[in-house]
Amino acid sequence: MRGKKVLVRVDFNVPVKDGEVTDDTRIRRALPTIRHLLSEGARPALISHLGRPKGEPDPKYAMDPVATRLEELLGGHVKKLDTAVGPEVGEALDGLDGGVVLLENSRFYPGETENDAGFAGELAAPFEAYVNDAFGAAHRAHATTVGVAERLPTAAGLLMEAEIDYLDGVLRDPERPFVAILGGAKVSDKLGVIESLLGVADSLLIGGAMCFTFFRAQGYEIGNSLVEDDYLEEAKRLMQEAGDRLVLPVDVVVADAIEEGSETQTVRVSGGIPSGKMGLDIGPESVDLFRGRISDARTIFWNGPMGVFEVDAFARGTEGVAGAVAEASDGGATSVIGGGDSVAAVNKLGLDDRMGHISTGGGASLEYVEGKELPGVAVLPDK
Ligand code: 3PG
Repeated sequence: MRGKKVLVRVDFNVPVKDGEVTDDTRIRRALPTIRHLLSEGARPALISHLGRPKGEPDPKYAMDPVATRLEELLGGHVKKLDTAVGPEVGEALDGLDGGVVLLENSRFYPGETENDAGFAGELAAPFEAYVNDAFGAAHRAHATTVGVAERLPTAAGLLMEAEIDYLDGVLRDPERPFVAILGGAKVSDKLGVIESLLGVADSLLIGGAMCFTFFRAQGYEIGNSLVEDDYLEEAKRLMQEAGDRLVLPVDVVVADAIEEGSETQTVRVSGGIPSGKMGLDIGPESVDLFRGRISDARTIFWNGPMGVFEVDAFARGTEGVAGAVAEASDGGATSVIGGGDSVAAVNKLGLDDRMGHISTGGGASLEYVEGKELPGVAVLPDK
């Protein structure tokens, strides 16, 4: 690697508010790969997308706040460029003395999302090698995830490798019992994931608003709770196929509206949800039921909150499950937290240090669990 110019795809798609990065998890998780390349004497240029700009420069999505945070975390110089291609890139790399270059947002170019051959060629031109550490973007067939990999000697970064190793471990050879926990609003979004997990898990615990489609399919009254009427047959089929491996809540917290301070009530699912009320969290008996399964588990996969955890009145279910996963992990279970909202919940509760692996991929980890081939992984060489 000594002296080599290496293009490194990272997923620095982080939340930014008032010019500051508000959650730097994805930047911190890329540091081992960056530090490794630096220790090998490479000259790395990092590239990422940020947000969803429309294929042209948009100051709101410039990488400058990321550069500032990266410099603080790396404790070394970050040369931020206002471009991702052109002669400035090679010049900046020639002038590097131990630091890194950070290129501008890849989605400022229409060729990125189109995986345009010309754009991929321009991106690759100054480099001798390519490392992909952006697991979070691996489900996108873009120029920075696929096009450049086809043009340069390519390797997976350390984060990419860890993400795949953990998810493969869970899906292919889990130590048993393997308990999967799924939450989130819609059955339709998670159908593939449910099917895939039912193929391997000993128990699948379902919380979040999607359980109301299952309750309706069982013939229970669900009041004003979210339901997908088009998926009732699918829900019935899944329950039939899974038998007692699919575990649904037995009680739920209901209210008139998703509002802090709204009057809440806990009701048993079998008694029906009163009309006008909506279910917004799993209840305490369900937390105990889920906790029992989780505490026996040797492998745990969790995606999606159990309720509207952003509102304190509907956060107990998610808190209870997060606590149970943390305790099981303390006791030696392998736990993998896949994706977006459940990661936000774990971080908010300060339980992140106690979890086994927290995926940096939202959509990517779900597609991986579903068994889909991720384009950004498919182009990487086998180990
Ligand atoms: C994510 O945040 O899940 C990844 O960075 C991918 O972002 P995208 O959905 O805008 O492609």
